[in-house]
Amino acid sequence: MSAEFDPNAIQGNIVRGYGIHHVRYLMLEVTDRKAAREFLVASLNGENPNVPIIQRETEWEENPEVCFNISLTFPGLQALGVSKKNLATFPIEFRDGMASRALKIGDFGDSAPTKWAPPFDEPDRIHLIASIYSDSEEHLDKVQTQVAEAFNILGTRDGRDLAKSKVVFGYVDSISQPKFKGIHDKSQNKNDELLDPLGTILLGYPTRMEGVYFGIPSPSELGFNGSFNAFRVLSQDASGFENFLTEAAEFLLKHPNLKDVLPPGGARQVGKGFSRKTALREIVAAQIVGRWRNGVPYELSPDTMEPDPKVSLTNFDYNRNSRCPVGAHMRRCNPRGGPIVQRVANLTRRIVRRGMSYGPDFDPKNPDDRERGLLGNFLGANLGAQFEAVMYDWLNLGLQHPDITGSNDPLLGANSVDTSWFDMTTRTGGKIRLHGLPRFVVCRGGAYTFLPSIAAINYLSQLKN
Ligand code: HEM
Repeated sequence: MSAEFDPNAIQGNIVRGYGIHHVRYLMLEVTDRKAAREFLVASLNGENPNVPIIQRETEWEENPEVCFNISLTFPGLQALGVSKKNLATFPIEFRDGMASRALKIGDFGDSAPTKWAPPFDEPDRIHLIASIYSDSEEHLDKVQTQVAEAFNILGTRDGRDLAKSKVVFGYVDSISQPKFKGIHDKSQNKNDELLDPLGTILLGYPTRMEGVYFGIPSPSELGFNGSFNAFRVLSQDASGFENFLTEAAEFLLKHPNLKDVLPPGGARQVGKGFSRKTALREIVAAQIVGRWRNGVPYELSPDTMEPDPKVSLTNFDYNRNSRCPVGAHMRRCNPRGGPIVQRVANLTRRIVRRGMSYGPDFDPKNPDDRERGLLGNFLGANLGAQFEAVMYDWLNLGLQHPDITGSNDPLLGANSVDTSWFDMTTRTGGKIRLHGLPRFVVCRGGAYTFLPSIAAINYLSQLKN
């Protein structure tokens, strides 16, 4: 099945982000099916001023004050009355739910679902996750109060963009995002990035794999134009990360091959006013992610974070002689056209990321251990083939390349100090192995959700049982 894309038919924030800097997630339980269905009807037709309207993908002139959207877990579809026959047509990983897939996606030890924060420790009670995007606290509160009239609010999570688009470890984030044919046309795609087919993110459209479509749950009114999301509350140990950079820099300063990483006099080339230790800390940080913390790709500018002339932030590829480590976070998540074992999989596991930080700001000069991190949404048309395949094969097992097989992602993998390692690249084509990476990112909760189309929300609101 293939169809014309209609922006009015899908919810917003899926194929394109909102560009609003604050979000509140509401974890909801359906306790009154009738009230929940009436809420859904009103959220589409706008006839009740006390019910927020679902934001669609449609273009807008000015940012709306509030963007409201919903997603459903498998228990949520059950709670709204979807028939057993139709429930069975949803993919297995979604039916199982995130907590049941814990081992597959690295959620063990401190990340185990038994340790998740409420309400994620009761995954069967989370039926919907609603998102309210607004830069006004007043609007966030107002919509929350409206939602509470129809659902039981089990918990909320607030996120915000940090200054200068940075995330908790101090990197600029959300630079690379899949862009879609027919949506991000040339005028919105100034960097001439590769466009993905819509089937990467929406059900019912061609995917990058010739002749392969992701299954559409039944009836098509419910499944078509839908998408899936892995919502994750990821706590980040910012002090631990900064400490590791310092330890790694001290290790490199004593290393016999130091000059292959940082030649004499090279510190100021790395960044203005940098000491040798600062330069080494930043080189380690850049190799761990594949970008300098200011966003410049390591692949295009391995010797300085301030390339002159400037380089593209998005348009590059990896090859056998790349200076960007094979194990760098972003190269693991998206090997682009680079050499990998699963050659045909190169560009098939694309993930749309919509995330915001939570918790207090972190000041490296005045570190503290208060909880902070990322409220991450990892979207795609198929959780198993995209999110889970990336988490499992690439981030946590390193199956894409023999050089990293058996190692975890240095940034967010399920690392333990005793066994972890990460191979840095040198200027001369060699490697220096770092050991002792702790687990910097711990999962505090999450859920697999289905992002229904507008027709699907209508379908759910009209169920009669
Ligand atoms: C707290 C957790 C995480 C942090 C701090 C983090 C940080 C980053 C940073 C700084 C970048 C580079 C900026 C950019 O290219 O947009 C990046 C890229 C990326 N990350 Fe993460 N990330 C996290 C979790 C994840 C997870 C769980 C996944 C996937 C399952 C993921 C997938 C990606 C992808 C696909 C890219 C872009 C790669 C590319 O297209 O070249 N990240 N991440």
